[in-house]
Amino acid sequence: MSKITIQKLYFTYDGDHTPVFEDLDLQLDTNWKLGLVGRNGRGKTTLLRLLAGELEGRGTVSLGQSCLRWPRPAGDPSRRTLDLLLEGVPPGEEWRLSWELSKLGLGEEVLDRPFSTLSGGEQTRALLAALFLDEGAYPMIDEPTNHLDGSGRGLVADYLRNLDRGFLLVSHDRAFLDGCVDHILALNPTGPELVRGTFSSWFRDKEDRDRGEAARNEKLKGEIRRLEQAAADRKQKADAVERAKTGISKNGIVKHGLRPYLGEKSRKGQQQRKNIERRAGRAIQEKSALLKDVERADSLKLTPLAYHSQRLLEGRDLAVSYPGMEGNPVRFTLNRGDRLCLDGGNGSGKSSILRLVLGEEVPHTGTLWRASGLTVSYVPQRADHLGGNPVDWAESQGVDLTQFLTVLRKLDFSRELFQRDMGEYSAGQRKKVLIAASLCQSAHLYLWDEPLNYIDLFSRMQIEALLLQYRPTLLFVEHDRVFRGKIATQVVAL
Ligand SMILES: Nc1ncnc2c1ncn2[C@@H]1O[C@H](COP(=O)(O)OP(=O)(O)OP(=O)(O)O)[C@@H](O)[C@H]1O
Ligand SMILES: [Mg+2]
Repeated sequence: MSKITIQKLYFTYDGDHTPVFEDLDLQLDTNWKLGLVGRNGRGKTTLLRLLAGELEGRGTVSLGQSCLRWPRPAGDPSRRTLDLLLEGVPPGEEWRLSWELSKLGLGEEVLDRPFSTLSGGEQTRALLAALFLDEGAYPMIDEPTNHLDGSGRGLVADYLRNLDRGFLLVSHDRAFLDGCVDHILALNPTGPELVRGTFSSWFRDKEDRDRGEAARNEKLKGEIRRLEQAAADRKQKADAVERAKTGISKNGIVKHGLRPYLGEKSRKGQQQRKNIERRAGRAIQEKSALLKDVERADSLKLTPLAYHSQRLLEGRDLAVSYPGMEGNPVRFTLNRGDRLCLDGGNGSGKSSILRLVLGEEVPHTGTLWRASGLTVSYVPQRADHLGGNPVDWAESQGVDLTQFLTVLRKLDFSRELFQRDMGEYSAGQRKKVLIAASLCQSAHLYLWDEPLNYIDLFSRMQIEALLLQYRPTLLFVEHDRVFRGKIATQVVAL
């Protein structure tokens, strides 16, 4: 067992930026199966890079062992997978690699193929197997699920759960986290929170706490209003007594004995008023400490267009067919208001079908019937091509700028981000740009390819709520089990 201790860590990418960490204190045990969660841009990847020694901050980071970060640069992808994975690993570890691969559901034959010929999900699993070859290093895994299909996610979660060593895992996938972690480190708005338990148990506690604080906040608001009113009433009365005191003495009508009585009355009144003001002060102070960790997740809006007839798409024995890859033919009908999920393993042609619907040329067999005059809004799977200023980008896409920026603010973007180059964005921030653009478009049909990849949990829930409220017609691919369960009205398996 070893510990990682972080004290008073300060880190910023650039003097002009708000620091990612300020005075961060943490103590971690490397035996934990630790899930690291937090909104996009909170600094999860940055923390891993600091622990791996790729970045340096101010303060102290003490490690009992070296830390390995995943994904690490994969080297030349045209090389044989075996050579690529064993780079830097002491000789004689081939059998271990095959063993780890088999636990991740990959056969040895992938080792002889060039790495570039492996599907995205196979590459992810192969690189994960290699990560665990070094027993002396602490493995830190940053969002392994994004290119994994449903069964791949299950396999990797089982693999991680059954390991006899600890790890640090960043993920936004609820079911995946629940399948493999026993501690949660949450980067909340006010700082880190470390608890024992699954993702769901942490989240339930957080929701209870947030709800409790919201109720207390409402109660205090009422109390403060009442106390302020009471203080104002007291003040009015006290002023009247004061006036009476002075008024009476001026006209000399005072009978001996009444002045001391009024004096006592005014003293008591002042005392009571002070007490009320003190109570109000305490309530205001308590209230200001509440709700600081509640995540900003205002509801989103969408204005889908209603198509004039019922049927929008129909696939008749449709299959993509590339040289060396023949998809399974599928039949499906997409009617107005449907939310159809295309399901299938890595490389089964889901993205290709979406691109075909979009009107791109994709080699296929069978037919795709598409209603005429459809307006389509598309979110591609990858967002790593984004660079430059987001405002310029939005203008080049013809989306309404004010609306675009409002949506991004609701998705937890700070204003400062609007001035920055998207090349410096975190992975989730880039994907949010694509989602925001789609939400600004009025369309008959929304085509979303793995919309939740890299998107943080709270925004996943915002998007779920939006889809259930505005009920757009949606054709999508998504491996997040919780999202699919809530959103899909039908699932078509490729
Ligand atoms: N190379 C960089 N230059 C400047 N700013 C950066 C750079 N990389 C990240 N940032 C900024 O630092 C902050 C933390 O980024 P980081 O990638 O650690 O977030 P994250 O929690 O991993 O987010 P995600 O969930 O989207 O992966 C973000 O505001 C991001 O925009
Ligand atoms: Mg990250």
